[in-house]
Amino acid sequence: MKYDFKYHLSRRAFLAAAAGAAISASLRPARASAVDERQIKVAPGEARFSGKAGPPTAVWVYNGAVPGPAFRLRQGQPVRIAVENRLSEDTTVHWHGIRLRNAMDGVPGLTQQPIRPGESFVYEFTPPDAGTFWYHPHADSLVQIGRGLAGPLIVEEAEPVAFDRDLLWLLQDWRLNSDGQIAGGFGGMMDASMSGRVGNLVTINGQASADQNVRAGERVRLRLANASLARIMALRFEGHRPVVLAIDGQPCDPHEPEDGRLVLAPAMRIDIALDMQGDPGSRHDVIDDFYDGLAYRLTTLAYDQTSPLRAHPLAAPVALPRNPLPEPDLSNAIRQEIVLQGGMMGGGKLAGIGGMMGMGMPGMNGGAAWAINGMSMTGDGHAGMAPQFTLERGATCHLTMRNETAWWHPMHVHGFSLSVLSRNGSPVPRRQWQDTVLLAPKDTVECAFVADNPGDWMLHCHVADHQMAGLMTVFRVT
Ligand code: C2O
Ligand code: CU
Ligand code: CU
Repeated sequence: MKYDFKYHLSRRAFLAAAAGAAISASLRPARASAVDERQIKVAPGEARFSGKAGPPTAVWVYNGAVPGPAFRLRQGQPVRIAVENRLSEDTTVHWHGIRLRNAMDGVPGLTQQPIRPGESFVYEFTPPDAGTFWYHPHADSLVQIGRGLAGPLIVEEAEPVAFDRDLLWLLQDWRLNSDGQIAGGFGGMMDASMSGRVGNLVTINGQASADQNVRAGERVRLRLANASLARIMALRFEGHRPVVLAIDGQPCDPHEPEDGRLVLAPAMRIDIALDMQGDPGSRHDVIDDFYDGLAYRLTTLAYDQTSPLRAHPLAAPVALPRNPLPEPDLSNAIRQEIVLQGGMMGGGKLAGIGGMMGMGMPGMNGGAAWAINGMSMTGDGHAGMAPQFTLERGATCHLTMRNETAWWHPMHVHGFSLSVLSRNGSPVPRRQWQDTVLLAPKDTVECAFVADNPGDWMLHCHVADHQMAGLMTVFRVT
């Protein structure tokens, strides 16, 4: 299992289970109260997508690796992460999905000064929610994420959850040229105004199409995180029935996804319970068939020859414990609407977004192709971004997001998780909370959140080209 980020306790539990003992949840060390100290060095580096013997690709790395180290934090335990910038350009780190103080959110110009080359910045926060999150730069995002900067961030539940193993697949999509190097041409108008920079190689934890070794009878918690710039995925586990436990780190009522497909847009995470019901020695493909006619095999679950871990299948997986999210008060909600506009229309014409109050930087990334409520904010965030709307602290915001464009957009809000109420008029079941909500062309989604966290917060499409080209805004909580 060389590509798995193994969870030491789960591994011990796994071994205990393998030895015939019950899954033990009591192996966890006593809770530490000290600040958890971590370090990240951002620098140019090298990746080998097809294994140690394969050809190197020049990338940018966190602590020498693609993806960056999998940080495992504790719910409610303070952490201090010192980030040192060894790139030749500014960077920041954004802790995607973590509800934290605005000053720690990592948006250059808006929440902090960018970290200049050779300089450092110390992030301090206490994760309130357990779940699967990730981190990435928020400066020159299209290029920096596209060159590999991304890493998983796991916040462990205060009370352990029983699985035989806890695995994480951080998915990245690379656009490589024929000599295996990252293709240039970031921010071209074609990518910017259509589906974004979709690549031609997808990796799991930095490796292309290696087998995933599994054992018959085990129950795995698999954390899926899509760290692609633009590629939307729809994963099918052939011969298996994944059960969704959490979306964007937030537990939901456990359920099997529609048609067995797990739709994972850029920046989204889905935690599944996967019961390994195949026979010893069998192989089962994991297919991504999101784009019509472009299905491919992402990886293969390869069962080893050992006899099943347990004689009888486990009962249905139980729900994960809920996080302490404030419940929206819909009867007293402030209504806000976000309308997504622009992009390429049929016939190769750009949708009219004329008349918008542009904040575009001419010449940078091709300028604006998108707008939110008639306004295009381009780039990654900068000083002086006027908020689209302002909320009083503690108010419930009932937010409508309406996609008038012909393209898909994973809309992401910083600092909050959104309770997803309805999609195109149909209620969304299973008490789902998300920080990144995928809107299909012409979709309307209603959601709500309590504005309990003061500051200026970003709201943008997580297709990096779209964000850079205007699909971004800011709101303020006073
Ligand atoms: Cu994942 Cu504005 O970020
Ligand atoms: Cu974010
Ligand atoms: Cu978009």
